Amino acid sequence: MEKILVLDFGGQYNQLIARRVRELGVYAEIAAYDRVSPGEIQSAGYRGVIFTGGPNSVYDPAAPRCDAEVLKLGIPILGICYGAQLLAFLEGGAVSKAEAGSEYGKTTLRSRPHLLFQDVPESSTCWMSHTDYISTLPEGWQALADTEKCPCAALGCDAKKHYGVQFHPEVTHTEYGRQILRNFLFSVCGCKGDWSALDYADRIIADYRERLSGKRVLLALSGGVDSSVAALLLHKAIGQNLVCVFVDHGLLRKGEADFVEQTFQNRFGVRLIRVNARERFLQKLAGVRDPEQKRKIIGETFIRVFEEQAKNLGQIHALAQGTIYPDVIESGKGDSAMIKSHHNVGGLPEVISFEQIVEPLRELFKDEVRQVGTMLGLPKELVWRQPFPGPGLAVRIIGEITKERVNALQEADAIFREVIDAARLPEGPNQYFAVLTDTHTVGVMGDARTYGLTVALRAVSTDDFMTAEWTRLPYDVLARASSRITNEVPGISRVVYDISSKPPATVEWE
Ligand code: XMP
Repeated sequence: MEKILVLDFGGQYNQLIARRVRELGVYAEIAAYDRVSPGEIQSAGYRGVIFTGGPNSVYDPAAPRCDAEVLKLGIPILGICYGAQLLAFLEGGAVSKAEAGSEYGKTTLRSRPHLLFQDVPESSTCWMSHTDYISTLPEGWQALADTEKCPCAALGCDAKKHYGVQFHPEVTHTEYGRQILRNFLFSVCGCKGDWSALDYADRIIADYRERLSGKRVLLALSGGVDSSVAALLLHKAIGQNLVCVFVDHGLLRKGEADFVEQTFQNRFGVRLIRVNARERFLQKLAGVRDPEQKRKIIGETFIRVFEEQAKNLGQIHALAQGTIYPDVIESGKGDSAMIKSHHNVGGLPEVISFEQIVEPLRELFKDEVRQVGTMLGLPKELVWRQPFPGPGLAVRIIGEITKERVNALQEADAIFREVIDAARLPEGPNQYFAVLTDTHTVGVMGDARTYGLTVALRAVSTDDFMTAEWTRLPYDVLARASSRITNEVPGISRVVYDISSKPPATVEWE
């Protein structure tokens, strides 16, 4: 299979670059600039290497630099932003810092006729984000495009098949970015485009069918998209030898536990054990108000319940997990592996020993996981499920967790979601939910004074959940949600809307 290496120098778009390449039908892997040697790059047989952007200046003593031998491998290279500057610098060109030369945002690009700009008009819009610029070309290189402030917005050396672009072809604001990447992959690197997530899924199914033949595999199913798709893939491969354990901790959204059970057991015939551990979780959480304490208790109780189930099942050979590619990529920023920390309830393997860990989605991005889920017939509600914290509603109930408070929040949350879904907003929020606060306020009902709880509604718009804007929901949508919640959920006398963005707030309240 053809492969492209995305060499990461700490840029914020490294994963986006790899996704774009894969969208064009070529498999892309990401590696931190200092974790892969020239020899490894050569022997892996990459068709091309893409240097990502990065926050540094090439002259910083701390600037990330790859081994210059990479440039001598005879493999085509495309440098993007910092990657282009590094490439030019390593080849003997010069990079300058000029405040006047810095460009941010949409900029007009004027390109010359060249393979890299095939089917790109002479003038187009590109997305820039740089302070330094390439001021002197390396010997034997030519400028391929410019902008008003940047004489070398694209440059290259055809003899070496090394190219650089100062702008970001991977972002959608660059009108012809996709075409430029396509030109690099197909015209420069000679790729044919033999990758698709669906073929990959077929291969994984066939491979597991053989490798796991006669073996029993256990999977903790949460109902999230990753564990759901992992379950379906493995079910296709090994059928009833896959056992899914679904721990119902009672802190899921209204109707969700039943929906997961129905989908997997009744519709797909997956062997599923739904463990009703609701009382057990409630007892453990009784009187606990501290969010971190809640998370810890839920994580630990989850492991205990899972462990008991595993023991009851007798011999299990492998544990399956829904790990996806972004969970295992090591970033080029110098920090260690980007592993979800508190965002993962299932830190399971250490407590029970398994011969093998099976991770069928380890090489896929989230959008590819969704594609595979859709192909396998997973219902839309699960494929497009919003992120939902592992500790569930426990971190959306401020203060103590009781059965009554869980019920009240489930009802309020279901109403809010129903109202938003019914509104069919063109630019809907990416995550929306209700929070039960511990603030009592005065209300009136008929002639009587009430003293009920306050529900907060939260809706955010975001690409990556690292930063998020509060969504400007239409007033009538908010009005409908508020009126229905106060009328239909006993004990709630007030509804407020959270207008905080992240940062400084977080998406969840706890
Ligand atoms: P925050 O609140 O950190 O949330 O801005 C960012 C995203 O992560 C989700 N989240 C969690 N997911 N366990 C999880 O699995 C957790 O403890 C947890 N806390 C937050 C949150 O819903 C949002 O999508």
